[in-house]
Amino acid sequence: MLDGTGTGILIEIKAPDSPLLFVKDVSVRRNKTDVIKDVNLKIYPGEFVGIVGPNGGGKSTLIQTILGVLKHHSGGILLSGHEPLSQGVYGKVAWVSQAAANLPKNVRLTVRELVSLGVLNHKNWLNHWLNWFLPNRVSPKIEEAIEMVGLSHLAHRDVNQLSGGERQRAVIARALASEADLLLLDEPLVGMDRASRSSLLKLLDRFCHEQNKTIVMISHDIGAMLQTAHRLVYLEETIWFDGPPANFPSLEELALMRGIEDVHGACEQCDDDVPSVLEVK
Ligand SMILES: Nc1ncnc2c1ncn2[C@@H]1O[C@H](COP(=O)(O)OP(=O)(O)O)[C@@H](O)[C@H]1O
Ligand SMILES: [Mg+2]
Repeated sequence: MLDGTGTGILIEIKAPDSPLLFVKDVSVRRNKTDVIKDVNLKIYPGEFVGIVGPNGGGKSTLIQTILGVLKHHSGGILLSGHEPLSQGVYGKVAWVSQAAANLPKNVRLTVRELVSLGVLNHKNWLNHWLNWFLPNRVSPKIEEAIEMVGLSHLAHRDVNQLSGGERQRAVIARALASEADLLLLDEPLVGMDRASRSSLLKLLDRFCHEQNKTIVMISHDIGAMLQTAHRLVYLEETIWFDGPPANFPSLEELALMRGIEDVHGACEQCDDDVPSVLEVK
């Protein structure tokens, strides 16, 4: 029994179109308040899903619950048919947070060393340390991941000497080297310049198309997500929209859906001053 709620999630997961990620009726409480409620989501292999919504809307909470770091108090989550943090999930999910690229200044790691940490697990630790001490033992998986993010020419560079965008790509290469099927990215575009943002989004899109990776990316940059993601989810406590970017509602429709009225009402002169309900950068 997955969650004791009798939701039938285990029966559904055996259907032929089994999702890679299955979130069913999930609610999560923080500080005695439900920060996400009755969230339902099915994500299939090769999809690029953008999760957008206002600050405090529960996006990071959802990702952390999928990872198993936070516990849901109702509903169930399955990753390839396994519960979060269970052995069956091991190595299948990679998480890249915005903070992941903010490495401590006193840590001395080259790009190649950082990326090689992605392939470290309890089965290959000996091989890993041999790679570490014998730099000529090139691991194709690591080199391939570095090449994919366009950092081959900087593989020997100390990660603290990279720009923010390059560091973020190094952290993504680490996730790729892990060969995880599912990449969960929490605001990876923050702090990146426009050119780096655009090359990162193209890179992620390529991963989906060429390697059948599944990407779930949180971003408050709705414009970037509309251009890149194959599917958009709007989360504010619960899911208000889930569908193709072409059908994404206008800011006014979203406000109405969530019960927010235009406070300027019929004031014709103030039309230009109406602030948008969402932060769009
Ligand atoms: N560590 C925490 N402890 C308690 N409440 C938290 C914590 N982190 C976030 N919250 C609360 O959970 C809610 C959702 O936050 P979060 O998931 O970070 O939203 P988002 O990522 O969409 O900005 C907010 O009300 C926030 O105040
Ligand atoms: Mg967040």
